[in-house]
Amino acid sequence: MKRLFLFALMGMAMSVAMLAGDLKLSSPDGSLTVTVGVNGGRAWYQVNRGSELVIDRSELGFVLKDGDLKGNFKLGKTSRAAVDQTWTQPWGEDAQVRNQYNELRLTLQEKSGDKRRLGVVFRAYDDGVAFRYEFPRQRGLEDFVIMDEDTQFALPSDAEAWSIPALTPYYEGIYTREPVSRKGNMSGPVALEVSDSLYLAIMEANLTDYSTMNLSHEGTVLKTDLVPWKNGDKVRVGDTRVSPWRAIIIGRQAADILLSRMPLNLNDPCKIEDTSWIKPAKYVGIWWALQKQRWTWSQGERHGATTANTKRYIDFAARHGMGGVLVEGWNYGWDTDWTRHGDGFSFTKAYPDYDLQGLCRYAAERGVRIIAHNETGGAAQNYEDQLEDAFRLYESLGINTVKTGYVNSHFYNGELQHSQWGVRHFRKVIETAARHHLMIVNHEGAMPSGIQRTWPNLIATESMRGQEYNAFDRRGGNPPYHECILPFTRGLGGPMDFTPGIFEYRNDSVPGTRPQNTLAHQLAEYVVIYSPGHMAADQIENYEHQPAFKFIEDVPTNWERTLVPHAAMGRYVTYARQERGTDNWYIGSVNDAEARDLDLSLDFLADGRYMAMIYEDGPGADYRTNPYPMTIRRLDVDKTTVLHLHLAPGGGVAIQLLKN
Ligand code: NOJ
Ligand code: CA
Repeated sequence: MKRLFLFALMGMAMSVAMLAGDLKLSSPDGSLTVTVGVNGGRAWYQVNRGSELVIDRSELGFVLKDGDLKGNFKLGKTSRAAVDQTWTQPWGEDAQVRNQYNELRLTLQEKSGDKRRLGVVFRAYDDGVAFRYEFPRQRGLEDFVIMDEDTQFALPSDAEAWSIPALTPYYEGIYTREPVSRKGNMSGPVALEVSDSLYLAIMEANLTDYSTMNLSHEGTVLKTDLVPWKNGDKVRVGDTRVSPWRAIIIGRQAADILLSRMPLNLNDPCKIEDTSWIKPAKYVGIWWALQKQRWTWSQGERHGATTANTKRYIDFAARHGMGGVLVEGWNYGWDTDWTRHGDGFSFTKAYPDYDLQGLCRYAAERGVRIIAHNETGGAAQNYEDQLEDAFRLYESLGINTVKTGYVNSHFYNGELQHSQWGVRHFRKVIETAARHHLMIVNHEGAMPSGIQRTWPNLIATESMRGQEYNAFDRRGGNPPYHECILPFTRGLGGPMDFTPGIFEYRNDSVPGTRPQNTLAHQLAEYVVIYSPGHMAADQIENYEHQPAFKFIEDVPTNWERTLVPHAAMGRYVTYARQERGTDNWYIGSVNDAEARDLDLSLDFLADGRYMAMIYEDGPGADYRTNPYPMTIRRLDVDKTTVLHLHLAPGGGVAIQLLKN
């Protein structure tokens, strides 16, 4: 009796403490809890999984140009909501996306002075937690400048972090794994191995009219580190009164991170009313020969973008069911040092040996579309000045995709690419393109943050070290594990224009460079790396009479459902994806430098028999010595089959499963 009384008293004490301050928000299945409170005027949040700490007490707030917006808060109004919706993607890794979360909306109210209000919205999903700030327009908080965002992510212990250094030009860096405490400043998304049963990714979602989030840290307390304007301002808050979402994806297994759709769910629904014209397709292009320095973008004897070359590429695309042909170097502006003189680029005027109109017609007659390339050399204002005219012209010619590029870490006015200026510019291009029914593939852009949900005409972004480094990086190209970590980091923000499919590993122009993986690994990239419009990146002659090319011809780029049967960050990863609208499945598995054996149960297949075409590393395949050996075998399988996969060093396997 006495004990019961004590429990009752304790219960009362707890509810008094709750009333006095801390707020709790649980995820729909109750597994994750966010606690929010204010102590000594400072607002904080904490995340738990059951009793396990996931994010320790972490502060919220801002330093503004004219004073702090932190340290003087009390909790104001709160409200709650529960949401469970399912929405359909025009293209994506899953056709249907469930968006289920509980929401806590709160106001932090300054206790003195102007008594300004700062809103914070928390969402608890079953696979993570996210929050963002709201800046209601009010006295003392009209248009204002953020000098620092003080959002923290206090890890429960030191963790192994996969990241690239902050401000790596265009994010074209190699992800490396070190304990957080030993890292420098990092770019998001950062993938974290905290323990055998706790995996995290910290990233931002819906980066709109704000600067990109990098992460600094003191010990194991991470903190947002925003990319500045030239004068040191971080964000100039005007019309847009919300920050991007700060998202923490939480998994028991590494695969959980890959399957989270939080980054998409945190973005606004599609703003394009009629998406029927958005039809991403695989493409080939006048490209790899440029990377290998065999052809040139500029005019001259080795000019790549000639009418004759382009026709050959169009014919090949038509013969092999590729929807697009990328042409680089077709327009004026390449003949000087274009990385320094981007102002010289014209986006409408073709070189004399490139018949712009005629080739668009030639392509259309064969069911192929030209992908126009717009390299800006970073002269983003020059691009904006021509944007409307160029996109109107492309639309009139039947061009349906534009690949943009910004090779220059500063824009012409000295602003950084991923600053708020840059973020605004990239959005302007996407929105203008949407009005002209153009899809965008963006190279050297800001870090993607899931905005393809809102603007599905943004079909892919680079913002990573793509395959191209295997053509020109004299230090040896991308390491074998590169594609084993990309999905856990950069890939969380959206589709990657990685440009897979290199079949000819030799490059005589830049000796020593070549992909650091096997041919089977190159095929597997089509499934592992997600893009709705992958490139078959090699020169077309290298695909002729190659049985392995059949997989690239067949592999779809739009999926009904995605599973991740195996995943270990930076070591290996297997994706199984169901083709949109069919019962067919495709498997891709990529490996790091160590040989590996994996068993794959096909229990996800529908009832009935399937024909499996397996493209795997053949005898002697090894990325160091001989990347080419491949065995292609055909097998009759069903949902009870367990496939034994052998992956060579730097190897992979690609499988097509067709329902009989
Ligand atoms: C870098 C891009 O990533 C690459 O794809 C392109 O060919 C060159 N810039 C030239 O624009
Ligand atoms: Ca690039």
